[in-house]
Amino acid sequence: MNRTLFFTVAAATMALSCSPSSRTDVTARDPHSFARPDEVVVTHLHLDVAVDFDRHQIAGTATLTLNNKTGARKVHLDTRDLEIASVTLVPESTVAVWKLGEPVPLLGRELTIEIGTSTKQVAIKYATSPSAAALQWLEPAQTAGKKKPFLFTQSQAILARTWVPCQDGPGVRMTYSARVTVPPDLLALMSASNPTELSKDGVYAFRMDQPIPSYLLALAVGDIAFRPIGKHSGVYAEPTVVDKAAWELADTERMIDAAEALYGPYRWDRYDIIVLPPSFPFGGMENPRLTFATPTILAGDRSLVSLVAHELAHSWSGNLVTNATWNDFWLNEGFTTYFENRIMESISGRPYSEMLAQLSLQDLRSTVAELGDTSAITRLKLDMAGRDPDEGVSDIAYNKGALFLRHLEESVGREAWDQFLRGWFDSNAFTSATTEEFVTYLQKRLIKGDVAFEQKLEIDAWIYKPGLPASLPVIASEEFAKVDAEVEKWKKGEKPEVLVVKGWTTHHWLHFLKALPQGLSVDQMVELDKAFRFTTSGNSEILTVWLQRAIQSSYRKADASLEKFLTSQGRRKFLKLLYAELVKSPEGLARAKAIYAKARPTYHSVSSSTIDGILGWEK
Ligand code: BES
Ligand code: ZN
Repeated sequence: MNRTLFFTVAAATMALSCSPSSRTDVTARDPHSFARPDEVVVTHLHLDVAVDFDRHQIAGTATLTLNNKTGARKVHLDTRDLEIASVTLVPESTVAVWKLGEPVPLLGRELTIEIGTSTKQVAIKYATSPSAAALQWLEPAQTAGKKKPFLFTQSQAILARTWVPCQDGPGVRMTYSARVTVPPDLLALMSASNPTELSKDGVYAFRMDQPIPSYLLALAVGDIAFRPIGKHSGVYAEPTVVDKAAWELADTERMIDAAEALYGPYRWDRYDIIVLPPSFPFGGMENPRLTFATPTILAGDRSLVSLVAHELAHSWSGNLVTNATWNDFWLNEGFTTYFENRIMESISGRPYSEMLAQLSLQDLRSTVAELGDTSAITRLKLDMAGRDPDEGVSDIAYNKGALFLRHLEESVGREAWDQFLRGWFDSNAFTSATTEEFVTYLQKRLIKGDVAFEQKLEIDAWIYKPGLPASLPVIASEEFAKVDAEVEKWKKGEKPEVLVVKGWTTHHWLHFLKALPQGLSVDQMVELDKAFRFTTSGNSEILTVWLQRAIQSSYRKADASLEKFLTSQGRRKFLKLLYAELVKSPEGLARAKAIYAKARPTYHSVSSSTIDGILGWEK
């Protein structure tokens, strides 16, 4: 791999589209960043900023330490919707000449700063815009406590640039430190070393000494309390939520032990989780040392904690070894979904993790059916140049990626595979990797010239071809077979009350709901609801699948529950499934629009931009 050789974005795109299944890729410049890290790379960021809740603004100075590899006289950075006040060169302490390029949709504006050959740092005085896409400013009414405002960031994939001028591509790593000033009654936390109590003056200092890509920069500010879980882990949340959260997430320490036993030491010091207010647009976000999580995982029975296993696993796959560009996204999410499953197998047993695996496979099959098995977006290696990397977030990266690793595991045997995977994390720790680098490593360390074995693995089909390869693993969950048997009984006319459902977990119920025939009548919905009370389920995953069915069957008794769910939480995955179901009928579309008109201002931009698309919403 020749990292010094690169193309312009256009040439790189052309080269990729001419030979989509070529394995000899040269590391092209990241199509989603203006930075040129091959010339000058940022090695450390120091942020000195104040958080202003009245103006919805973060303002202050970002000081970037540079490694000028080529004696370049310019450094190129990413910004979007930032107001740049001035730039100073260090150690010269002179005011720098800088310019902002024309805005490019999604990418923002390139900030070019003229530097001297002995410039070590650039200090950029800047302020964010009230509409910065990474920031969600919550009114007190949108929090659990209802008294104080809340702010959180979401930098992945290319939104860090909307709150910090930086080299915003996953192929660049830097350490960081920060001094953040907030209103004195609020606590500030970052993806770094964190306080557990309020400071006297609202000033907090942070350090992240391990180099990370910019998409892992994170900040949360609010009325936040802390509860320890174990020696290395704890939970942050609003005071009225924190005890519930600590109970729900009590298994975290065991997950860390399980993960370390599988793939080597946890390298980030502490592992804490913050349970955010309900508008957080994701289930979880693997911000280092401090996973951000949705409160919709607080089901009250610890049944949705595989999400923590997932975000924890990113401490290896993603945070330690990072996808080099968003085209290699499956290296983050596919590896993590595989690893998540292995952690769950360790702590909850194989029958449990096989349910997770089979659900993944079912989801993957329906996604491929929906997208079409010749569609380019069903390839593991993506070509997202000129498109929003968000469009690459699908079951393909997660579940096709995870099943590919499961296929490799089953082909070489678990012991050899685990050793191999641990070696991958160790030998690439704190670096970014391309898909092609993974394939090379696979050839060197696992295939070792065995041509027949290589053919059996179908690597090219898995990574570069659309659809599902012939070597897709077969997954047969025994637990789900039991569920299927009960569904059959019901279909044959047995009453729901006589079905054998004792001891069923969330995942049994999810499978049950998905295995029911399409197009149930209202009477059938009533019967099921009476027996199992799905409409009032406090489990967000079960409720979502049930509400989808309620929409399909025009089961009006669930209307209020649907509206409440859509207006009380902003997790994109749930919103997307339900709004997409509603718009299938003209009457549903009208309802969706009425609900959305109220809910939209409470959603994060990540969610509202997706739902805008589904509803054809004019901003
Ligand atoms: N890193 C992702 C979230 C993400 C992906 C944010 C792409 C922005 C762009 C996170 O690890 C994730 O996958 N979250 C999932 C939960 C998981 C259990 C599948 C989610 O939010 O649903
Ligand atoms: Zn993930």
